[in-house]
Amino acid sequence: MRIAHLSDLHLHVPGAIRPSDLASRRLFGAANLVLRRRALHSPAVARAAVRAAAEAGADHCVVTGDLTNLALDAEFDLAAEVLAPLGGWERVTVIPGNHDYYTPGAVRAARFERRFGPTLWRPGEPDAYPAVKDVGEVRIVAVRTAMIAPPLCSFGEVGEGQLGAVRRAVEGARAAGRFVIVALHHNLHRRGFVSETIGRLLDRDAVRATLAEAGADLVLQGHDHRARHFELPRPGGGAVRVANCGSSSLAAGGIDVYEIAGGAFTVERWENRGPEGRLVRAA
Ligand SMILES: [Fe+2]
Ligand SMILES: [Fe+2]
Repeated sequence: MRIAHLSDLHLHVPGAIRPSDLASRRLFGAANLVLRRRALHSPAVARAAVRAAAEAGADHCVVTGDLTNLALDAEFDLAAEVLAPLGGWERVTVIPGNHDYYTPGAVRAARFERRFGPTLWRPGEPDAYPAVKDVGEVRIVAVRTAMIAPPLCSFGEVGEGQLGAVRRAVEGARAAGRFVIVALHHNLHRRGFVSETIGRLLDRDAVRATLAEAGADLVLQGHDHRARHFELPRPGGGAVRVANCGSSSLAAGGIDVYEIAGGAFTVERWENRGPEGRLVRAA
């Protein structure tokens, strides 16, 4: 089975911020930052990443959050359109990032879940996090770390209740002989001073310990826009691989594609280095 990992599209829609939005102190401060960053994240590159997942023969795609910048309806509509070619529940899993929960109003209106909930829960299933999906030989445990943080902060948290359910889902998958992937937005490694101070996963130590003890095979994360792979040592030996694919909408960005077979995996890197608008497999 082949699984593609995309992340941090940060899609910007020119003119989407209305004057009435700027009455919100939260959006007023953020709009400035976003407008400065918008040239970096390109919807065209994001669309190329989606096409690359198909070219790479992905059976399923995991998108680890920050689809939008300010959680505006127009940004979510664009994200839904960009990701539509990936398909539905069987073919794609999309989790929220902190930018998708940017304002209390966006969370109250369930702007993320209205568009992407159908990739997490089947009709009639309670829409609770984590979403637990068995797809082929793989179990995907889709975790929400996004929360309403203070203005201009980007903290995340899993929380005790959700973490207990994650542990049970991972242990259950292992007992059933399934390969288990945990997807979450916030990074499990330490970053620089600013990111640590205003944007870390608040219960990171507990999450790392739980995933190492329960024995996830692979953790796919976002938030850090640079690609990175590292390991969490397991108490009884062995390790959990943790991977960032980096932002999939940056000129220097890309996606990772995993080939999973017999409980093991290999990974390919696809980078935005081909002719205009095309990702190619890195050597
Ligand atoms: Fe991000
Ligand atoms: Fe983020």
